[in-house]
Amino acid sequence: MLENEITYPHINSFLADVLKQSDPLLEEMEKYARKAYIPIIQPESAQFLKMLCTVSKPKRVLEIGTAIGYSSIILARTMDENGVIDTVEIDEDMIEKAAGYIKRAGLENKIRVLHGDAAEVLECLGTPYDFIFLDAAKGRYIEMLPHCLRLLKPEGIFVTDNVLYRGMVAKDGFIEHKHRTIIVRLKEYINLLCRNNELTTSIIPIGDGITVSVRTGSNES
Ligand SMILES: C[S@@+](CC[C@H](N)C(=O)[O-])C[C@H]1O[C@@H](n2cnc3c(N)ncnc32)[C@H](O)[C@@H]1O
Repeated sequence: MLENEITYPHINSFLADVLKQSDPLLEEMEKYARKAYIPIIQPESAQFLKMLCTVSKPKRVLEIGTAIGYSSIILARTMDENGVIDTVEIDEDMIEKAAGYIKRAGLENKIRVLHGDAAEVLECLGTPYDFIFLDAAKGRYIEMLPHCLRLLKPEGIFVTDNVLYRGMVAKDGFIEHKHRTIIVRLKEYINLLCRNNELTTSIIPIGDGITVSVRTGSNES
């Protein structure tokens, strides 16, 4: 489990125990991700994402950051029969691995993996989405935001993972040099979300920190 200063260790282990994976494919994916150091969504955040998806019943989901397809599969299984997911990934090895798992989950017709740098791929997308999950390079969330806003339907849900970055975003005092730029960018990103009149945003301190925004204003420009 990733060390963080967002939640207490005893709460993390309690949640890990309660939310222990019972699905064999997802369990296999979690094991592979741990072994290969692939940062998939944490169990409590995955459960929260699933809950948001269940409540909002999206027909079209956009995910930015597929990795091995773990969160895509969780979302796709939660959606209605006709629901579709477009998920964007830059790394070819990840795409290959994701394609294998998605096939084994029998979700090839529901999940479309789009290969490329998200900033460029999103530029080419035009049909809006009911639900957007941003989970790619944290240092580039600000750059992705206008695309996500353009592609989010009125009343759509916009979720971003890792916004508290192991708690460092909220920390006063010394931050190691290698993390400073990312921290500055994440703080700015959170501020942009919270100050946006078209969104109502909540910051949830679970996992690595999640924001949930609902589009309450108009996206007409
Ligand atoms: C945190 S992982 C995604 C985890 C996945 N959502 C899950 O929980 O199963 C982030 C992924 O974003 C991808 N990524 C990073 N920068 C990207 C970019 N600019 N465009 C597309 N994908 C990117 C990485 O290769 C990595 O696989």
